[in-house]
This record gives sequence, structure tokens and C-alpha cells, in this order.
Amino acid sequence: MTDSENKKILLSGIQPSGTLHVGNYFGAMRRFVELQEEFESLIFIANYHALTSVSDSDMLIKNTQDAILDHLAIGLKPETLFLQSDIPEVTELAWIFNTLITVPYLSRAVAYKEKVDKGLEATVGLFDYPVLMAADILIMDADIVPVGQDQKQHVEIARDIAEKFNNRYGELFNIPKAHILREVSTVPGIDGQKMSKSYGNTIPLFSTDEDIKKLVMSIITDSKGESETKDPETDTVFALHRLFSEEQLSELKIRYEKGQIGYKESKEILVENIKTFIAPLRDKRENIAKDKDNILDVIKVGRERAQERARAKMKKVREAVGIML
Ligand code: TYM
Repeated sequence: MTDSENKKILLSGIQPSGTLHVGNYFGAMRRFVELQEEFESLIFIANYHALTSVSDSDMLIKNTQDAILDHLAIGLKPETLFLQSDIPEVTELAWIFNTLITVPYLSRAVAYKEKVDKGLEATVGLFDYPVLMAADILIMDADIVPVGQDQKQHVEIARDIAEKFNNRYGELFNIPKAHILREVSTVPGIDGQKMSKSYGNTIPLFSTDEDIKKLVMSIITDSKGESETKDPETDTVFALHRLFSEEQLSELKIRYEKGQIGYKESKEILVENIKTFIAPLRDKRENIAKDKDNILDVIKVGRERAQERARAKMKKVREAVGIML
């Protein structure tokens, strides 16, 4: 038995629906890198999912290439990466799952409702998003799925679908588990809501120093003056300090609680810490980007590995449900 056969399988995906941000990084991407040796890792760019919100084809291609570069720049091994669209079996499996679950069941998905409330068109694809995600996860026999809190329900839907399939057709699918770190489960954006590509409130992961300053200085806070006591638990600037200012955190907490720091100074400290954090990532990304034309070659091994797994699994699924090719 080879080493990789002993390891549990980690799978996760990111939509190329905009510029990746520090919420994506702390909520999910960082763990892909931290766990890539311990698990057999499969990380993909979910470009079919992104079609539910991106309708400009050039933009989708650019975002997809950028997302690959971003993952390489944070230290993910290229052989773990692939594109969702390189695995057509995933959309095939999603169709089979569509015949298993009901409209009332899927209507309970909160992400769908939130996106429609935010103005996204209520397409069938958007409604069916969790089913495609279940296919991504189950086709690879994933054991753990590192994601942010907003994706917890989607992983639960994948578990339900696996159980339903197994009950009907026999035990074919592994039941996956979401892997969510409480401290970073929901990173706030500069307006205090969840940081999200679609809310226009992000700090991009590879921002320029200038943008970091502009974005951080515009974080919305309450109107307390410098000498008033402040609540670190509810302040967005402090929430971001938790990610970037680890060494100063206890001192900052005391200064907040004792009314010894104004929001302006707190933001200035945060700007410096984010700059220090992002600079080396940005440099690495710039170096990798020089070879941008070959970016799809770089992930060739990841693609082939994922295709092999998916093809073998789909063969079993077709047999189980009675589809002949
Ligand atoms: P996406 O691109 O919306 O988000 C990618 C990952 O980033 C996490 N995330 C956050 N975590 C903490 N705080 C935030 N503010 C924040 N914003 C985003 C998300 O939870 C996610 O882990 N549907 C997935 C993509 C996907 C997928 C999959 C994931 C498609 N198929 C299969 C896992 C397994 C998504 O939300 O992408």
C-alpha cells in the first residue's frame, strides 16, 4: 500500500467569482496548505458554481487563472489542484442526485435565500448549487471538507444525499464531515457583515499596500471617542486584529477595554500588520505569474489524479443506478 492510500481524503473548492480575499484565506485556504501533507488533498476551482453569479466569459477565465495563481502563491502544491470543469462526471453525478432529493428539502438552504435577497437572479442553477457541491464532495470519497461557516449547511446536504443514495442503491458513498475552525468561521468585511466577494466589502488577499490602507481606514466602527471603553468582541477592527495582530492582541484588548486607544490608531496598527502579512505572498504570486501562460500545465498532475478518481467512482454509480453507456 502506498502512503497516499493510507491517508484520509480532504476536499474543498473555491469559486472563481471574484478576487479572493482574506475571509477565503483564513476561513478555508490556509487550512488547505496546513493540512496538505496529513491528508490526500483535492482542491479545485469551482468554475461551474461560479456560473451562478458570473456571466462574463472573459472575466470567468481570468478569475479562474487568478484563483490557481493565488493557491500556488499561498504554498499549495500544484498536484493537489484542478478545475471543476475538468471533471465532467461531477455534473453527471449532480443530475443523478437531482432525482433523489426534493424541492422542499432544497428550499431550506439558507445560502440560496441570502443570495436571492442580495439581488442574484433566482436561477435553477443557483437553487441547485448545493447538489453540484454534493457531487464534488461525494465523487471523490472525501472524508473532510474544510470550509467557512457559511458552507456548513451545504456539507450537511451532501451528507444527507449520500445517505439517501446509499439507502436506495447500496453503500457507495462515504459520509463526509465539514471541518470548520470556530475562530475564523466567519471573517467580517469592512462593513461588519460577512466578508464576501458579492458584498463589495472585502480585503483582497493580494492587495497593494495602498489598497490595504484605504480599505482598513474605511472599516465601519461605532462612534466612541479615543478615551471611551470599547468592546473588542463587537468591533470589526478587533476581529481582524485576531487574524493579523496575534502578538499584540492581549495588549490591544486591554487598551480597548480601558479606553486607551482610538479606532484610528487601532486601524493604523492593523494596516501595518496586514501589509507585513501580505507582502511576501504578493511577491511570491508575482514570480509565479510570470509563467501565467503555462498555468494550466502546472496543474496537470492534479487534474489527472482527480479525473482518475472520478471516472472510477462514476462507473460504479452508473452500474448501481442502471445507466448504460
Ligand atoms: P466560495 O468561493 O464562496 O468560498 C470559498 C471558501 O471561503 C470560505 N469563506 C469564508 N470563511 C470565513 N469567513 C468569510 N467571510 C468567508 N467567505 C468565504 C467559504 O466558506 C468557503 O470555504 N460553495 C463553496 C465552493 C465549493 C465547495 C465545493 C466547497 C463548491 N464545491 C465542495 C467545498 C466542497 C464556496 O462557498 O465557495
